[in-house]
Amino acid sequence: MRLKTFSPSDVAGKKVLVRVDFNVPLAGGKVSDDTRIKAHLPTLTALREAGAKIALVSHLGRPKGTVNLKYTLEPVGEELAKLTGWTVRFVPDCIGEKVDEAVAEWKDGEVLLLENVRFHPEEEKNDTDFAKKLVKDFDVFVMDAFSAAHRAHASTRAAAELIPSFCGKLIEREITMLSAARDNPKKPFVLILGGAKVSDKIAVVENMLKKADTILIGGGMAFTFLKAQGLEIGKSLCETEKLDFAGKMLEEAKTLGVKIVLPADAVVAPEFKADAPSNVVPADAIPQDQMGLDIGPQTAEIFTKEILSAKTVLWNGPMGVFEMPAFAKGTEAVAKALADATAKGALTVVGGGDSAAAIALFKMEDKVSHVSTGGGASLEFFEGKSLPGIEPYVIG
Ligand code: 3PG
Repeated sequence: MRLKTFSPSDVAGKKVLVRVDFNVPLAGGKVSDDTRIKAHLPTLTALREAGAKIALVSHLGRPKGTVNLKYTLEPVGEELAKLTGWTVRFVPDCIGEKVDEAVAEWKDGEVLLLENVRFHPEEEKNDTDFAKKLVKDFDVFVMDAFSAAHRAHASTRAAAELIPSFCGKLIEREITMLSAARDNPKKPFVLILGGAKVSDKIAVVENMLKKADTILIGGGMAFTFLKAQGLEIGKSLCETEKLDFAGKMLEEAKTLGVKIVLPADAVVAPEFKADAPSNVVPADAIPQDQMGLDIGPQTAEIFTKEILSAKTVLWNGPMGVFEMPAFAKGTEAVAKALADATAKGALTVVGGGDSAAAIALFKMEDKVSHVSTGGGASLEFFEGKSLPGIEPYVIG
């Protein structure tokens, strides 16, 4: 997929409004994870180096169209200034007089950070009049918020139609890396699916089944597949209404010659609790009063072997309840296998959301080819959907 990106001459001396995704976690009024802020720095730096003045617009949380200072972007501005050493001026609205004033007084080198765009109800309605107010003081619009690109909102979509617009370097990198895995994977291609629910991954499976050579299934969703094969799964998660889908998928994979690998063993406990007593049992011997909360060591070994034999690996969804140390080993083993496969030359891509959080927890995010910043956006991308925030920039 080729995208319309900016070159220095497009933005030199211009006032540029950049849609970023600064929807970051806050704790005690401070940013507790700056990954998403850092992800935008290549775009912001390139714009500044080209001689553009930059103003940033973002959402934070879901304030539902009302002003709620719990979701103010002010602390994010402080973090951006700390990270970069840039002068960041926080503007307490994203449209209207306050923005006009800040733009009138705008000093060279100063970055404007506008207040949460979701304080206005028109944002989520993709309202063109609101988008006109957003871009009014600016010459160029740059969309860099990959993780919000599955939303057709005024600041992710309508704004793009109003003034010269380009996508930024984060979107360019995301689309390049995610497309390499989705559209053009070097074989063998191993797809790893995990997370709690089969229902969250159905559309991904439907889109990717034909492309993968091997699919490894772990996490809570694996138990629905085990049950579909007729195994007893005790108190493990089971989506009864998805048993049919799971059974059909196993059949279809067989017809297509796609190898599906389900857990051979599981770490089980009597309840969903960090300090619950845990045990490893074979997948076909899960006791009635126990629930599977992680893949077992034998499965981790089998999955590792498959991952190490791949040229392309795409990982979406943790293998167990990785937030609890007793049930984190399976996810950690997969993260490590991805890092080792990368070192051997494989392209390894981690879809955003929980798997991104897991790989960061195990400090292996720099050892894989790409960790997406988008949770919902990367999922929709792998479902084969077109993302409304990207569409305006696709040129081939
Ligand atoms: C995300 O965190 O996935 C993005 O910032 C999008 O947020 P949203 O789901 O509230 O639109």
